Amino acid sequence: DEIEKGGYPHFMLKEIFEQPRAVADCLRGRLNVENHSVQLGGLTDVIDRLAAADRLIIAGCGTSWHAGLVGEYLFEHLARLPVEVEYASEFRYREPLISEDDVMLVISQSGETADTLAALRTAKEHGALALGVCNVVGSTIARDTDAGVYTHAGPEIGVASTKAFTTQVSVLVMMAILLGQKRGTIDKEYAARLIRELNDIPGKIEKILDQSDSVKRMAELFTYAPNFLYLGRTYNFPVALEGALKLKEISYIHAEGYPAAEMKHGPIALIDAMMPVVVIAATDHTNDKMISNIEEVKARKGRIIAITGAENKEVIDLAEFSCPIPETEDCLSPLLTSIPLQLLSYYIAVNRGCDVDQPRNLAKSVTVE
Ligand code: AGP
Repeated sequence: DEIEKGGYPHFMLKEIFEQPRAVADCLRGRLNVENHSVQLGGLTDVIDRLAAADRLIIAGCGTSWHAGLVGEYLFEHLARLPVEVEYASEFRYREPLISEDDVMLVISQSGETADTLAALRTAKEHGALALGVCNVVGSTIARDTDAGVYTHAGPEIGVASTKAFTTQVSVLVMMAILLGQKRGTIDKEYAARLIRELNDIPGKIEKILDQSDSVKRMAELFTYAPNFLYLGRTYNFPVALEGALKLKEISYIHAEGYPAAEMKHGPIALIDAMMPVVVIAATDHTNDKMISNIEEVKARKGRIIAITGAENKEVIDLAEFSCPIPETEDCLSPLLTSIPLQLLSYYIAVNRGCDVDQPRNLAKSVTVE
């Protein structure tokens, strides 16, 4: 165990720090910065059918479902393809309306999650093309899908998914660019810029990891908070959900993730001086709205932790603590904003003496209903 942890006290921390390499491995051989193109060998035989699809249904559980939500924004934005994101566990028990013109994309790190596998089989029974994004090569889901893309993140041992999420999102970005180019919905210059920016993501993750000590210090101040609220908009709404899930899983602190604008429809009632609010403000065109959300929280004495661009002075000045992230394109920001949230939950869980790699009641892959 100690050797496998490579000098880190926990697998989770090792896997958080492996992300520059995991994302680079995921992108390797698939991005061509000079030609502004993406090659995903696993999709070659199905790309025409995918490009002609009426609708993309994305299904998964937990963190993989959160990656799927980022996928919804990506496919709509870059490929103008209608998308529905489903909890695999609900989808299988509904009477879903699926046709041969639909494509089902299942996302699973392990490739063995029972509900995700059942959702996949339901879609196949209705004649939909079945695609997968999996990490474990040769897993049941990888074998049962018609085609797919591996994340190549390497083994993930910690129960809390970290590098699985960032590599899943990396694959979804590449798929959405490829599909946007095929469908003619993505501007040439913009595609070229995204490919260049995506190629730079591993280095930017590295820069965030270099600041882990400041996240550690921040974690000390919030270790005994009984509740946390995470707020994000657009691409960073799923990151808010993911940040809250990470904290719940390993530190047993109650946490909720919300789209920031929904705060006034309920959760605002929870805010007082005891409530840390993590604001993920890294999406340019919603920045003004996020600033007013922050002001609403502050007016109720909530404590703001901001994950935001290093240049976003207005947000940084309003926040009690901030974790600056390097600038990137909005749609790539989840690849960066998720990192400090992983570190925050890790350090809080360690401070609380929790078993980070094997949290109570949880299994790495849920192979039963
Ligand atoms: C993530 O931190 C969780 N442990 C869990 O939600 C997980 O993402 C979910 O069970 C799905 O697993 P999969 O990706 O292997 O299908």
